[in-house]
Amino acid sequence: MKTQIEPFKIKTIEHINITTAEEREKYIKEAYYNPFSLRSDKITIDLLTDSGTTAMSSKQWAALLDGDEAYAGSISYYKFEDAIRNITGFKHIIPTHQGRAAEKVLFSAIANKNSIIPNNTHFDTTRGNIEFVGATALDLPTEEGTKPEVIADFKGNMDLNSLEDTIKKYGTERIPVVMLTITNNSGGGQPVSMENIRETSKICKKYGIPFFFDCCRFAENAYFIKLREKGYADKSVIDICREMFQYVDGATMSAKKDGMANSGGFIATNIDDVAEVCKTNLIVMEGFVTYGGLTRRDLEALAIGFNEVVDENYLRYRINQSTDLAKQLTDNGVPLVLPAGAHALYIDAKRFAPHIKPEHFPGQSIAVDIYKVGGIRTCEIGSIMFGRYENGKYVAPQMELVRLAIPRRVYTKSHLDYVAEAVIEVYNNREKLCPMKITYQAKFLRHFTCKCDYL
Ligand code: F0G
Repeated sequence: MKTQIEPFKIKTIEHINITTAEEREKYIKEAYYNPFSLRSDKITIDLLTDSGTTAMSSKQWAALLDGDEAYAGSISYYKFEDAIRNITGFKHIIPTHQGRAAEKVLFSAIANKNSIIPNNTHFDTTRGNIEFVGATALDLPTEEGTKPEVIADFKGNMDLNSLEDTIKKYGTERIPVVMLTITNNSGGGQPVSMENIRETSKICKKYGIPFFFDCCRFAENAYFIKLREKGYADKSVIDICREMFQYVDGATMSAKKDGMANSGGFIATNIDDVAEVCKTNLIVMEGFVTYGGLTRRDLEALAIGFNEVVDENYLRYRINQSTDLAKQLTDNGVPLVLPAGAHALYIDAKRFAPHIKPEHFPGQSIAVDIYKVGGIRTCEIGSIMFGRYENGKYVAPQMELVRLAIPRRVYTKSHLDYVAEAVIEVYNNREKLCPMKITYQAKFLRHFTCKCDYL
């Protein structure tokens, strides 16, 4: 059968609000043209993030009742640990309440103000936690990874030459860990190949540097390897995952993504010394080592989520959902970062609205109009998020993107057809998109709370 169906049926439903164009005009103005400031009851389809927005299965909801809320030694923790160890093989599995907590615990254990930490591309909280301890976060994507119009299978790869040059330049004692983000979220949701993982691992071994994944979307990455990399078509996703994790010494994860639940994360490693310091830090920062800031019922839901995420029927549907939406958009001329990622599509705002200069926020203008047309919330990842002035001169980020992140198991094909219709309508009227300005911004991470207006 050609038709891709959702590999689940719907047992309980959540109402969404359908608003009028006049209402949306008013709501977005009241939110100072920042989709982060919209109340969610004013939104019809919410594509702000795929993080913590997953629909849990009936098995996960049922498991909540089995949560063993013991402070120490909870049985729920051991189920969580088994599920993660089954996929990753790691010796120490340390729960946290979300991904950035795992980062904070890890980097406060291993990094200091002299440290340099390379990655294919750091996610903003990873960078934030590295900089918070005074260390330097370096992004080393491949050249094709930074070109939205270039079509390639593994645009999330690490640039291996740059990695080796970086190690030679700074010396091994300044690099406590090399990170690799799978899939590369800030680089357009692009996967990393097994070959690149293997080669990164070889370089790290050669220089004796620990190698860790930021593995929020490990199952999606594994499925892309199955689809695109030679020699993996007949391997099961779980075996591909096991091979991926074999090459690293540890990982941090926001389990709000491929953990298929609404909260959670972990640090996992085979390095005893690192685990020991992390566990001590965890108790101060998050909670005891068998719950790490989570309710134990969350651990139950996650234990099941880790099994559900490697189901290939689910992953096929997940990836088809985004490639189908991408096809509808590109068939109508909408410029995207290609090929489509699994968890999100990224509109290339520079080509969508070339008449708006980066410093006038083309991505924000597009995101605002997508809301006005369809009540759809998306997120600018461009000058609003990363732009800055240096000596009075505007420094734009490499890419101006608008992210359409797709929550797991939440929206059906007709919801995404509706999204396609709205985005295409904005694109067909793109010359009417207006430049914008920021009227208020916080000192750090301004995109969350800034106020915008038309120029
Ligand atoms: N690493 C990556 C690659 C991420 O995408 C995220 C979160 C984190 C770390 C931090 O995890 O939110 O649980 O603390 N990404 C979300 C997003 C917020 O919308 O892409 P967290």
